[in-house]
Amino acid sequence: MRIVLIGAPGAGKGTYAQYFREKYCIPHISTGDIFREEISKNTDLGRLAKTYIDRGELVPDDIVNNIVKTRLSQPDVERGFILDGYPRTIVQAVYLDTLVNIDAVIHLIVSEEVAVKRLSGRRTCPICNRVYNIYFEPKPINDEICDYDGAKLVKRKDDEPDIVRNRYRVFYETFKPILDYYRSKNILIEIDANRSIREVAPELENILITRNILKIKPCKPDVKPG
Ligand code: AP5
Repeated sequence: MRIVLIGAPGAGKGTYAQYFREKYCIPHISTGDIFREEISKNTDLGRLAKTYIDRGELVPDDIVNNIVKTRLSQPDVERGFILDGYPRTIVQAVYLDTLVNIDAVIHLIVSEEVAVKRLSGRRTCPICNRVYNIYFEPKPINDEICDYDGAKLVKRKDDEPDIVRNRYRVFYETFKPILDYYRSKNILIEIDANRSIREVAPELENILITRNILKIKPCKPDVKPG
């Protein structure tokens, strides 16, 4: 299964990618996570990406395209992958087609108000990248501590409401051509992502199974959404 999750900030791309990664053992490739790791290591790439990310702006296409090309050349993507946050521009979408054939592009549709509320409560584990929320499920069992690593959860700097609103605006300004591009290829699936994770995850999973895109058996069948 080679799928792309797209949607405004807070739509749940990372959340659903995490669910499929755990249940089906398929790699989750998030360009945002790759940049945050480079920033935490203070690499040249990380310092450059930070100047864009901190303002809620997009990192330039050639930088992102090179990162994705390198990641998709690694052997673990042979069983499939879930791309999260890429492509984000039409240049990236056209470039991705030169690298691989994509089975489906899932557009998770979320309203601005829901996105701002979710992101103000988002907390992430700096070790395993698991995503939690202090207002919605999945909440950490112990306040602000990862259930798996015991690490103190962190809040992303770009999750402040003003920056979220800018990211949301940038998303909808740049996204129409990408949606049209995938619609014309007949691989676009649109889902109302304002609903709870427990409603959206099984619906998405069923669509992928019914369309014969998700063909592999779960490696951990008991993983539950949220
Ligand atoms: P990135 O990390 O990709 O951020 P984003 O796209 O803005 O998306 P988010 O991670 O904020 O949202 P999400 O949809 O994954 O939500 P999540 O599942 O965590 O990119 C960051 C920056 O990097 C960009 O702004 C840009 O600068 C740069 N960048 C990255 N890729 C790039 C590219 N290709 N080109 C150029 N620049 C690039 O959910 C959010 C919260 O809500 C969580 O707490 C979750 O628990 C909760 N939640 C999710 N779903 C539900 C639900 N149904 N009900 C209740 N709570 C929910």
